[in-house]
Amino acid sequence: MTTLQAAVTTSAALIRQRAGDRLPRIAVLLGSGWAGVADAVKDAVDIPYHELPAFPVLGVGGHAGLLRLGTLGGQNVMVLSGRKHAYETGDASVMKGVIRTLAALGCEVLLQTNAAGSLDPALRPGALMLVTDHLNIVQRSPLFDEPADGRFVSMADAYDPLLRAQAHATAARAGMPLDEGVYAWVMGPQFETPAEIRMLQVLGAQAVGMSTVPETILARHAGMHVLALSMITNMACGLSEEVLSHFHTLDTAAQAGEHAAQLVEAIVADLEL
Ligand code: HPA
Repeated sequence: MTTLQAAVTTSAALIRQRAGDRLPRIAVLLGSGWAGVADAVKDAVDIPYHELPAFPVLGVGGHAGLLRLGTLGGQNVMVLSGRKHAYETGDASVMKGVIRTLAALGCEVLLQTNAAGSLDPALRPGALMLVTDHLNIVQRSPLFDEPADGRFVSMADAYDPLLRAQAHATAARAGMPLDEGVYAWVMGPQFETPAEIRMLQVLGAQAVGMSTVPETILARHAGMHVLALSMITNMACGLSEEVLSHFHTLDTAAQAGEHAAQLVEAIVADLEL
């Protein structure tokens, strides 16, 4: 057994013990600005990441590093506040232990959330976008050191069409606007140049961000279904006069956060697995 496998087994056992008879089939991984989702969890049991050997130690402001078990919209869930980003070390596989732990627990759905810049003049800050597909612009993979043929994982329907249809139906029923589009993953941590943004527009992306894609690849490799939501926190570089900063991302996210959390709760409540 590798060190990672051992850490995953230990982490899964600890979570299973704390979850008792309400082990979730849905995991929600929160990005910047989505903390309201964790606040909405009922009967919460918290496990800090540092108690789980397969989980990373976090460094970015706005990310707590907490796993919360409980119910959301009447469903058992596991809400993960905070992810480690590839831009922190250059390693795209930093979340491998986390996703493998979720899979080991029998989680079937990974609902990811993130903050993103908009490449589409019609997609304004505060808007929520369902990710239909992604562009792995950096061409890094969290599966580089995988030994088996399973590493050649299909990325067709990476963002599950049935779950996307359910999410749209929920949003429509609740009267909540929900856009959709392609998410381009850039490594960061620097923001893009105006020329890079023009390139991503030509390539067909509607949003750009520094996360999500490695976890999607890991989850698909582990056989989980993925749904992802982007909160548009800014127009991408060159599309508005504003100067981009992480503070700005968190500030806009705080304003759109309540609405975003309500949408996630409604989507989870309606999820049919
Ligand atoms: N670019 C990259 N990542 C981001 C952005 C952006 O404009 N906004 C929020 N995350």
